[in-house]
Parts: sequence; structure tokens; C-alpha cells
Amino acid sequence: MILVTGASGKTGRAVISALTKGRQRVRALVHRHEQVLQLQSLGAEEALVGDMRSKEVVNRAMQGVESVYHICPNVSPEEATIGAVMIEAARLAGVRRFVFHSVLHPQVEDMPHHWLKMRVEEALFKSGLSYVILQPAAYMQNTLGGWVSITQRGVYEVPYSLEARMSLVDVQDVAEVSMLVLTVSDHVGSVYELAGSQAITPKQIAEIFGKLLGKNVRADRVSTEAWVRQAATSGLGAYQTDTLVKMFDYYDKYGFCGNPLVLKTLLGRNPTTFEQFASRTISAKLKKSD
Ligand SMILES: NC(=O)c1ccc[n+]([C@@H]2O[C@H](COP(=O)([O-])OP(=O)(O)OC[C@H]3O[C@@H](n4cnc5c(N)ncnc54)[C@H](OP(=O)(O)O)[C@@H]3O)[C@@H](O)[C@H]2O)c1
Repeated sequence: MILVTGASGKTGRAVISALTKGRQRVRALVHRHEQVLQLQSLGAEEALVGDMRSKEVVNRAMQGVESVYHICPNVSPEEATIGAVMIEAARLAGVRRFVFHSVLHPQVEDMPHHWLKMRVEEALFKSGLSYVILQPAAYMQNTLGGWVSITQRGVYEVPYSLEARMSLVDVQDVAEVSMLVLTVSDHVGSVYELAGSQAITPKQIAEIFGKLLGKNVRADRVSTEAWVRQAATSGLGAYQTDTLVKMFDYYDKYGFCGNPLVLKTLLGRNPTTFEQFASRTISAKLKKSD
């Protein structure tokens, strides 16, 4: 049995789908009761509802599991504490493999949520557990946050340079790797950077969406102030807003690029390109609206 935490988020759902397709037994740790059905429909054998910050909940979740795939909620100020609770519970339960879903370049102190993941990586090194650390780049799926604007107004908006280069990765490729490292013991002790095959800019992303949708789509830079106002209306917390502004500032200055070779080697094929991802997404959305 494999325990997947943060199970009902974007990453958790992709990882669970990959694991259950590969006939692995999954226990999902979810936050709310209404998320249970969705995970069962993805093939999770068990779904445990609870707060991953609670030692009692996490100790219960670890009982009888062979491996853990730990996904912390996105931009959590409690990432290091949650990581410590997970690692200690895994140790106590005698878990045989601990896979941590980290991020590309956790060394970057300018991005506090990256820096906190490095603290968890450090705790894992010291834990004595058999671990694997996956460090994915930013997901291609993040661009879909602007789907309505892309399709209705023909505008792909970002709060950083339209020339910022990013090695976006398909979360489904990351999920495929999660299956590999959870089931093949040769990977124990590895830290893998998972970057997509091209470093593309918001301008190129807009062009690809435009080409595939058969309409003009342009990239537009929104000001940080406008993005913060929008974030406030969507209920984003102060820590998350502040941290994401720091991340956008970093993207603006330096982009966010990695090398695709590790991902290509692990997959045994070229990583999904942005055009392949966009084409698959558009087809799925058209099918749904039939
Ligand atoms: N997005 C990217 O581009 C990217 C790239 C690399 C790495 N990552 C990392 O991937 C991880 C997951 O990202 P994501 O976007 O998939 O996350 P997400 O959508 O925020 O999902 C996290 C899940 O955890 C649940 N959750 C929140 N607080 C919880 C708690 N206290 N106890 C139990 N469950 C809780 C959430 O449920 P509720 O919604 O009910 O609270 C949600 O289902 C993050 O650590 C992020 O840093 C993301």
C-alpha cells in the first residue's frame, strides 16, 4: 500500500491516477470528506480524511503502508513542520520508502516556499529513511488558471516578463516518474530535477494556444498591484500572496529553467512538449463540452 498525501490537489490526483493505472494499491490522505469520492473514482483503495498537520492523523495514515508519496499543500508556511511530522511518522511505522515531492531549485532563498522544501530535504537526508526526492519545474497545467481569459478575451496574462523563459513540465510526466521511483528500488537515494523539454516564454505559450485554438491569443503583463488585488478577491492568504509575488519577481529577473535530460532518461522518451500538452487539453475540453 502506498500513502499519498495532499491527494486531492492537482499533483495528488495525477500521481494517484498513474499509480492505480500501474495497479498499485493507494491510500489517499485528503482534507475534506467531499474529496473522498473523487479519489475513489481514480482508483484509490482507501481514503483517510484528516489534517496532515496532526501527528495523530499522520501516524494513523502511515499504519501498514510500504511507501509514502508526500505532497505538501502548495505555498504552505508550515511546509517544514508538516515534513517533520511525516518523516517521524514514517520512521515510527517502519515505512520502506519515502518519496518527497519537492520543487526545482529549492536552494533559492528568494522564494520562501522553495527554501522551506530544502529544509524538508535536509530532514530526509538525516532521517535514515530510504528516500527519493523529485524536484519538478513549474507545471504546464498552471497556465490553465487563465483559461477563461485565453479563450474568451484572447489574452494570456502573467505578472512577470513576457520574455521570461521557463522549463514547464507536464504534471502527468511527473506522475509517471512517481510510479517509477515508488516501484523500482534502484532509485533510492536519488534527487531528480524534472524539467520540461523546452524553456518557453509567456509570448510563445500565447502563440501556441492561439495556433491550436484557431484565434489570436496575445500575452499580456499585468502589474503586481493588479495581481495582488485579484488575489485578494479570490481569498488567497497574506503569506501565499507575499510568497507568490516574490516568486513572480524571481521569474521576472531570472526565468525558471532546468535541464530536461533527467526527465527524458527516467521516462525513456522525450518529455511532453507544451504544444502536445495544449493540444491534449483542448481536445479534452472540447470532448467535455460535446
Ligand atoms: N504547481 C506547480 O507548478 C508546482 C511545481 C513543482 C512543485 N509543486 C509542489 O507541488 C505541491 C502540490 O501542489 P498542488 O498545486 O498539487 O497542491 P494543491 O492543489 O494545493 O493541493 C494540495 C492538497 O492538499 C490539501 N490540503 C491542504 N491543507 C491540508 C491539510 N492541512 N491537511 C490535509 N490536506 C490538506 C488540499 O485540500 P483543500 O483544497 O481541501 O485544502 C489539496 O487537495 C506543492 O508542495 C507545490 O509546491 C508545484
